[in-house]
Amino acid sequence: MSQPQHRPIRSFVRREGRLTAGQQRALDRLYPRYGIDWSGGQIDLAACFGRPAPLVLDIGFGDGDALAEMAAALPHRNYLGVEVYRSGTGRLLRRIDSEQLSNLRVMLADASELLRDGIASASLAGVQLFFPDPWTKKRHHKRRIVQADWLAQVADRLQPGGFLHMATDWSDYAEWMLSLTDAEPRLENPHGGYAPDAGDRPETRFERRGLRKGHGVYDLMLRRVQSAALR
Ligand SMILES: C[S@@+](CC[C@H](N)C(=O)[O-])C[C@H]1O[C@@H](n2cnc3c(N)ncnc32)[C@H](O)[C@@H]1O
Repeated sequence: MSQPQHRPIRSFVRREGRLTAGQQRALDRLYPRYGIDWSGGQIDLAACFGRPAPLVLDIGFGDGDALAEMAAALPHRNYLGVEVYRSGTGRLLRRIDSEQLSNLRVMLADASELLRDGIASASLAGVQLFFPDPWTKKRHHKRRIVQADWLAQVADRLQPGGFLHMATDWSDYAEWMLSLTDAEPRLENPHGGYAPDAGDRPETRFERRGLRKGHGVYDLMLRRVQSAALR
């Protein structure tokens, strides 16, 4: 008899219906140029950009507008945006093409799998996670992308001194992030709590949505400790 398969716990739900013809055309035409295919093994991300530069991983960029703004404003960095949402990816691909953002590449993939299997230790200058799905019901908390083992992987993939910037408009998720990061010895919090401002993060679509509902905005800025600080 075959063994029951355990379905992995995902931080997203694929709600997306069919793409419009235009969205599909953008993906067909532009993904081969600005997208990165990932087939499961470790990848040489520096080679994907054609130049060495500090690499920042953006997880769940949504419509991609904030990420495109950051890539344009900080051209000395390479940015890799990872999403599962195809119409947002199509929209971002069009922006990369029209604005010729040579330091921004996208990947359609589950970012948790990519982080676990595709990215080498100490290879990232930064990781950003802006307004992740909050999974507000207690029974869904296990679907939150921020978990102790996820943070341990982030800490491992970051270079010493690299940053993890997270933001949320859900106070309960913000406290969850704070307590889990406090428990990860390789991440230090120079602010001791929430960051005083959003740093170089532009306002995002989901942030605007939260603000319209009267939510607060919480930024957390962590640093990967230098190895010498680890005992
Ligand atoms: C609430 S939206 C926020 C989008 C954007 N960062 C913003 O602030 O407007 C969360 C996004 O994360 C994406 N997402 C969730 N889990 C993911 C995963 N494991 N890998 C890639 N993308 C993921 C979802 O598809 C969704 O677009």
